[in-house]
Amino acid sequence: MAKEAKKYFKVDPWKIIEEGFDPKEGRVGESIFSMGNEYMGIRGIFDEMYSGDKLVGCYFNGVYEEKPLSYPEYFNGLAKRCCFMINAQNWLYTRIFVDGVEIDLAKVPFTNFYRELDMKTGLVLRRFTYKDITFTFERFTSINYHYIGGQKITMQSETAHDVKLISGIDFTPIHEEEGKNYWTECDKGDDYIVCATQTSGQRIYSKMKTSFGAGKVISEDKMIMQEYDFSLQGEKVFEKVVYNFVERDKNLSIDLKMADSYLAKSYDDYRAEHVARWAEIWKHSDVEIDGDDENQQGIRFCIFNMHQTYHGDDGRLNVGAKGLTGEKYSGWTFWDSETYCLPFYMFNNPKAAKNLLMYRYNTLPQAKERAIEQDCKGSCYPMVTIDGTESCGVWQHGNLEIHVTAAIAYGVWHYVRNTGDEEFLKNYGLELLVETSRYFASRGDWSPKTGEFGLWGVMGPDEFHMMVHNNTYTNFMVKKNFLYTIEMVKKYGYDVPEEELAQWQNMADKMRINYDEKTKLFEQHDGYFDFPEYDVKGMDPDKVPVYKYWAYDRIFRVNMLKQPDVVLMQFFYSKDFTLEQKRENFYFYEHRCSHESSLSPAIHSIMAAEIGDLDMAEEYMAYGSRVDIDDYNRNAHQGLHVTSMSAAWMNMIYGFGGMRSDGDILSFKPNIPKKWNRYAFTILVRGSVLKVEVVKNKATFKVLEGAPVTVEIYDKTYEITTEGIEIEY
Ligand code: BGC
Repeated sequence: MAKEAKKYFKVDPWKIIEEGFDPKEGRVGESIFSMGNEYMGIRGIFDEMYSGDKLVGCYFNGVYEEKPLSYPEYFNGLAKRCCFMINAQNWLYTRIFVDGVEIDLAKVPFTNFYRELDMKTGLVLRRFTYKDITFTFERFTSINYHYIGGQKITMQSETAHDVKLISGIDFTPIHEEEGKNYWTECDKGDDYIVCATQTSGQRIYSKMKTSFGAGKVISEDKMIMQEYDFSLQGEKVFEKVVYNFVERDKNLSIDLKMADSYLAKSYDDYRAEHVARWAEIWKHSDVEIDGDDENQQGIRFCIFNMHQTYHGDDGRLNVGAKGLTGEKYSGWTFWDSETYCLPFYMFNNPKAAKNLLMYRYNTLPQAKERAIEQDCKGSCYPMVTIDGTESCGVWQHGNLEIHVTAAIAYGVWHYVRNTGDEEFLKNYGLELLVETSRYFASRGDWSPKTGEFGLWGVMGPDEFHMMVHNNTYTNFMVKKNFLYTIEMVKKYGYDVPEEELAQWQNMADKMRINYDEKTKLFEQHDGYFDFPEYDVKGMDPDKVPVYKYWAYDRIFRVNMLKQPDVVLMQFFYSKDFTLEQKRENFYFYEHRCSHESSLSPAIHSIMAAEIGDLDMAEEYMAYGSRVDIDDYNRNAHQGLHVTSMSAAWMNMIYGFGGMRSDGDILSFKPNIPKKWNRYAFTILVRGSVLKVEVVKNKATFKVLEGAPVTVEIYDKTYEITTEGIEIEY
């Protein structure tokens, strides 16, 4: 792969460590040390003043602004309005002056800089020494109480200094991409402030309480601050708890009494509950690797961030491709949620998995509107969205990546199959299936030449081929969409005319799937095999990403892939393809894939493991779990690749664990990379906790809690109980 690791952070199994501060890596550090809790997120900005390069990024899930999109001509059916997550208040706002000098690490000399994220406890700690004063900052966004953020500053000095500490809430950060601040102040008091977005009508109420009590109040536009002046000798500890509340609609209005009851609890109380909750989460979510500290750290970082980003407390929220860690991708939800994230949540937090799908159910009206805009029927799901409407200003993606709609049906199928949640299926899933099938029936058409049904003018997951016909991945997913809908409508009953079901059946039966029995190759789309070859393996690692260095239309003129397409299909519906088909297609397409999407390596690792190429599986795994820690794509400064982290988790469980979740029961074919001595993971399977432990040639399966679980291991069926079983492989 034409990508190289940067080694800036120290390797540690449970921590991400930065020793010494390189301002060039400042933004990468901000992303890596981001904290979040589904509701809000804050980049690893310095608490105190920092005049160097930075992005003061503080985000609230679902809090957005919008701008119109316009096109010179041919605009029917294209997205007209773009919603984007905006930068909100910096609730960690701090300014520190020592003997009249402002502490600003871009300006004052300092030593002993150290920062760590402790993934076990969910705490970020930063330390440095200025003169003889050591400052230690600790912070968290409460994983138990979403409105709560905490900050602790410990100052220690041998000699006496005059210190001025200003602590506040600051709604002035600008949205960098738009160069604008989107907040209007509505109300404020000594310790609280309310600001509103300009057009989306959302308000945020922020109130703080500090351990220093009431200070001298300073008020500026969109800011409240309290100043504390004191003499420092020995140790002084400052603690701040902030309550941040988003008023999205009338059902959730600002309640001042509620804020006060939240703020009655101390920093230490919240911290203790936060740390305890993380311990609980790790009990059921950890992946242990003996013999490879880099991947151990990498995979825990991924798991940590998946839990930070979402736990499904609100079915109106979803996972942004960059979570709540940066502006890039605007807080948008992509098809990543149903394809890449859903498995993580299904096996770690089924409530979150359900709520990812509920989000799609809740935005059905917008998806129906979108289908009409595109001269179609049913529901068409957006490529990128916050509020359920299409926000993609690049029409090639927004209009042609119709596989996104099939991903919703795939998500319903995958979720119901693995959780047995029939209630969800009956009450919500069926409607999603029927409406997505209606969309594809109206979007597709018939070939006059072959009489096959197909989808013309599309873009598959491989975004390096635009406006192609009959993308195999898309056609296959749509075929599955039809078939599952018909099966479920017949099983549970739903008001769909018989003729319509018959039509869908016919479309599924006659779906064009370009396949050559002799070579076992699926052609990615009509005519793909005829595209000129491009030497992907010979690419200059310093000339990526391609979108930055190539003329846009050049991308579409060669056979280079951005990410897996046929290979992805063979993973999602693993049971539908033979090992030989998987092997042939893997080697054919792997060779041509640039992995420009960070979603890509994990899928390649999983499929390499399945076909027995463990060396390649290992190589891809390293990249997948450490994409941001080692900044492989040179864009970690923009935010974390959160949805790719779920792919990295899949890499472990589906790759080396060899799990497949597309059959009637879960199946496993564990393997272990040469370098590892042992690895183990736990997953939730229909309420039971299943632990899988793998060493060379031996795997142990054991239920830790709950009812026995029936699984297939190397093609034989076993009932796993608390006694556990050992399999030689
Ligand atoms: C990928 C898409 C993905 C998006 C967000 C793009 O680079 O090509 O498939 O949905 O990133 O992760």
